[in-house]
Amino acid sequence: MSATSSGRFYLTTPIYYVSDVPHIGHAYTTIVGDTITRYERLRRGKDQVFYLTGTDEHGEKLERAAQAKQMSPQTFVDLIAEEYKKTWQILDIENDDFIRTTETRHEQVVQKLWQTIADRGDIYSDRYEGLYCVGCENFLLEKDLLPGNLCPDHKRPVEKRSEESYFFRLSKYQDRLLELYAKVPDFVSPQRRMNEVRTFVESGLRDLSVSRSSFTWGVPVPGDPRHVIYVWIDALTNYYSALQDRPDKAAFWGSHESPLAIHLVGKEIVRFHAVYWPAMLMSAGLPLPRKILAHGWWTVDGEKMSKTLGNVVDPRALSQDLSASALRYFVMREIPLGEDGDFSYDALLQRYNSELANDLGNLLNRSLAMVEKFCEGTARRWSSDASPEVRGERLHQRALAVCAQVEAAMAELQPQKALEAIFSLVREGNTYLEQEAPFTKVKTDPRGADAILYNVLELLRWLGVLLWPFMPERCAELLRQLGIADGTLRSWPSTWGELLDGTTVRKGATLFPRIDPDRQKELLEKWRAARREAEQKAQALAPPPPAPQAEQPAPRPAVVESLPEIAIEDFKKLELRVAKVLSAERVPKKDRLLKVELDLGPLGKRQVVAGIAELTAPESLVGKSVVLLCNLKPAKIGGLLSAGMILALGDDKLLGLAAPDRDVPPGTALR
Ligand code: MSP
Repeated sequence: MSATSSGRFYLTTPIYYVSDVPHIGHAYTTIVGDTITRYERLRRGKDQVFYLTGTDEHGEKLERAAQAKQMSPQTFVDLIAEEYKKTWQILDIENDDFIRTTETRHEQVVQKLWQTIADRGDIYSDRYEGLYCVGCENFLLEKDLLPGNLCPDHKRPVEKRSEESYFFRLSKYQDRLLELYAKVPDFVSPQRRMNEVRTFVESGLRDLSVSRSSFTWGVPVPGDPRHVIYVWIDALTNYYSALQDRPDKAAFWGSHESPLAIHLVGKEIVRFHAVYWPAMLMSAGLPLPRKILAHGWWTVDGEKMSKTLGNVVDPRALSQDLSASALRYFVMREIPLGEDGDFSYDALLQRYNSELANDLGNLLNRSLAMVEKFCEGTARRWSSDASPEVRGERLHQRALAVCAQVEAAMAELQPQKALEAIFSLVREGNTYLEQEAPFTKVKTDPRGADAILYNVLELLRWLGVLLWPFMPERCAELLRQLGIADGTLRSWPSTWGELLDGTTVRKGATLFPRIDPDRQKELLEKWRAARREAEQKAQALAPPPPAPQAEQPAPRPAVVESLPEIAIEDFKKLELRVAKVLSAERVPKKDRLLKVELDLGPLGKRQVVAGIAELTAPESLVGKSVVLLCNLKPAKIGGLLSAGMILALGDDKLLGLAAPDRDVPPGTALR
């Protein structure tokens, strides 16, 4: 994206449902947003940037969650909204506002926007019949469901509903939306998400049901309080409503000619942001957002994060042990923005030790120790007429080149690339120190040693600023140890040699203390326990399964509880065979996965990767017979090729493996 480095900059996160305490996925979005906006603050000035996050507190899902806790919805949402705020504090998030959809300032704007759209003739009343998923708070089409009429995201049966509803004339905006995508080809990024949205709109838009009358926890429809406004219409409006109570804030919305809002969202909610939201704004005659920036999803050990799997990662526990900065670094460094990524505690510890403790932390430690030893703890700057070599010109040029790479990466909204570039400079600093060897030079040429150490301190100052958007708290400490007073010399680095002659360094505690293997074990155990605890807490707060509501005509029961019938021909499409386990081993860094080598007799040998590590130690699997689905399309799991699926027993939780009841030769078919 061609973000200019002057003028206002407005970035938002999705507002999170308060049905649950925040996990690493929510933290990821908020950290990405915080890093981008901190960078923009450095470049444009603090007042030019506005970073918004908040909570989505209305809707049936939350009404039910509160009922289950025997709380009023307001008490319930207050409780969890507070958890979000606390978490963002722990993670050093510097948001300019925190909008909650139950605030009056928001509700008023939602009603006003509704009224404007209604006055344009874009809202009408009708009946709606459809399949509703409470988890998504959305009607789904039959073609998008999994067998058994399950929602593909929530794996729960959808509910058949028929109710009176207001509709928004979304179909009327189909052409204008397509014009928008043609005119602003990067309206959604990455590009493949833009293509998905365009294809969706081209396939024809249906009007959108925008009110509900089956529950009351929402913003009343103006003039018809029997209905509440559809939670997505309510929620999307937050991006605009949060700016409306002060003129200086309102300016961040931009204009028709120069739209400003960048909505950072997870890939699963792009459609709401790139289709419904701009159409609503078009109808109301308001400026559109500048961009919908979609990021990928984190899985954990190769699997979707979910409470039933018990693999929900708690960002607070991690940042308390490693520092918020370390957690921020890891999530930003591990995956390019827009791609999916897999979270593993091992990878986190590995990056922590090698990149933060060894590369960056050591550079600071060694340099400060030498400055204390050889230079009485002060930076001794070279004189301006010193030779380029003494001034560390090569290092300076490298640092300038890295700054340019960081600028380019951030303009493209690719913070991970920026981090890569910055860490190449960290390594360069270590090499410079090794090669120039001030510890030897000090014996023969003390002035020369002073200059080398000065250059390293100056490099560290540049690094401290470049890395500040990513790791604000640890970088503030780094700069403090360099003797730089809070708020000075923290602007974007451009002049080499700004660190003042005579600055006294203040070596303090190690930035990122190395974690030895014993401590690693301890931490892994602790985090797993914290995960279990969070899981129990979340389950206590989780909404109950959908139940019929008292005041409305009882909705029909969930469409189907078990899978639909199939013909024998369907079954025959599955190639099921008995297979003997030749070898089995754990997949490094993937707690749940085993790599299994199988003998299928006349059908040869196969490698599969199976999520069964919790069931059995790999050694005890060797020699056993299992059942393999052989003609499943091969896939990469945990980075390894898997050609088939070992059949296991159990619904959500694994209970055992399917196996023949007697000895049969490997390769025997199931029928
Ligand atoms: N309330 C809606 C959003 C309304 S915005 C007008 C919602 N809330 S949510 O609580 O479900 O949060 C969804 C967002 O959380 C995702 O879009 C993404 O930003 C973040 N994530 C939740 N789980 C995630 C992962 N596993 N991985 C990465 N981000 C994820 O949808």
